[in-house]
Amino acid sequence: MKILLIGCGYVGERAADLLHAGGHEVLGVTHSQSSAERLGAVKPWTVLSGDVACPDAVQALRSRTGPVDAFIHCASSGRGGADAYQAVYVNGMTHLASAYPEARPLFTSSTSVYPQTDGSQVDEESHADPDRETGRLLRAAENIALGRNGLVARLAGIYGPGRSFVLKNLLEGRSGIEVSPEAPEGRLLNQIHVDDAACALVHLVTTNQAGIFNVVDDAQLTQRACLEKLAALFSLPVPETRSPDPLRKRGWSHKSVSNARLRATGWSPAFPSYFDALRHDPQLVSSILALVDEAGEVPLPRSANIVLIGLMGSGKSSVGRIVARLLGFQFVDTDHMIVDRAGCSIPEIFAREGEAGFRRRESAVLRELLGTRHSVIATGGGIITQPVNLPLLRHLGFITWLEASTDLLVRRTSSNNDRPLLRGEEPPRVKLERLIQERGPIYKAMADLRIQTDELSQEESAYGVAESARLFFSLRK
Ligand code: S3P
Repeated sequence: MKILLIGCGYVGERAADLLHAGGHEVLGVTHSQSSAERLGAVKPWTVLSGDVACPDAVQALRSRTGPVDAFIHCASSGRGGADAYQAVYVNGMTHLASAYPEARPLFTSSTSVYPQTDGSQVDEESHADPDRETGRLLRAAENIALGRNGLVARLAGIYGPGRSFVLKNLLEGRSGIEVSPEAPEGRLLNQIHVDDAACALVHLVTTNQAGIFNVVDDAQLTQRACLEKLAALFSLPVPETRSPDPLRKRGWSHKSVSNARLRATGWSPAFPSYFDALRHDPQLVSSILALVDEAGEVPLPRSANIVLIGLMGSGKSSVGRIVARLLGFQFVDTDHMIVDRAGCSIPEIFAREGEAGFRRRESAVLRELLGTRHSVIATGGGIITQPVNLPLLRHLGFITWLEASTDLLVRRTSSNNDRPLLRGEEPPRVKLERLIQERGPIYKAMADLRIQTDELSQEESAYGVAESARLFFSLRK
């Protein structure tokens, strides 16, 4: 199919990538010339610019693209209010529908058009008479698509890498459970992962559906259920209750949105619930922790664990076991977890899946460790080579870098054969020296504490780690 896609933002860009990968001809449209150029330089699909709010611009677009089979309107109104909704959604849909009369339209709307406040389940037949002007404008834009036998996708709250208000607010101490007489456990959260949203748009257009479809995952949680689970996962207190904010952009509503109609067409979410995504999306948690850390408004929450980093042979496992005993903590080793989950040895994983496969598994066990407390976590020497792991490591606990001289590392690693990185062409000493050069600066930047272990017994190193960690956590209280 030949598809015009208006708005190459958070969802639109992913939908365009999927359409292109599926063999469709994609013409993406951005609002500004500069973003069209930026995107055009990196995308295999065509990127044009044009303002859908302007009828002449849409006619000009039409003369450049010629007829299309379908258009998807997923431009955002930015931070604007009713005026922006009128311009981008209602006028935009009017102009597109008249410039592309042959095309099937898909308008990307929002589940905020359902104003229900009683916690009931709503589907596409439920009444959608929003009490806000912005909601009424969304409905007007929807009707333009429906009047042409087109599609309306009502998207729930979109989250994904770099965007999750629920988690970011919790980490920054801004969350509250908004309760009302009808919602004693807080409002119901209706969410959708950005990849699942993009997939749904592509699925609806390419399978020639018509009508209204809710795009939401399978697990609508109350704010309380969600925040309690999140608080446990990030070692934070459960937020307090508060009354609903009358200024909420999308209004106060409390309802459970059903995706049954969309599911019946053959779509299903890769992330059925928010918590599946926290666990399995490789970027999600890490990206939000990084946002909080970079914003610097509050210190990044750090869990009560000790994380040991350093090269192979630096003593992470042996020192770690002693630290755990000194503090009455559990001892955890990420390499052991990987071997356990994979059901085979590290050399076997490297042989079958390459280092990239091993690194994916290593990041996955790090996500699995979210929520762990009172543990000493010994990590594989290369865990810091993956930028996505760094915010997670920092959040997981007090980080100690165990250092040792090359002589000692060579001696300690020569006795066993389970480190594939030391079995290549390069002699182990040369390889280890190279790794020190490459990784040293990252270990240094990550470490809360750095211990040169050559002159110390394992007990002495362990004692230093334990006492420093005690001090670190008592000062943060
Ligand atoms: C590696 C270190 C190993 C293990 C894997 C890769 C590395 O862990 O994760 O062989 O890249 O330095 P240890 O540091 O515990 O030996």
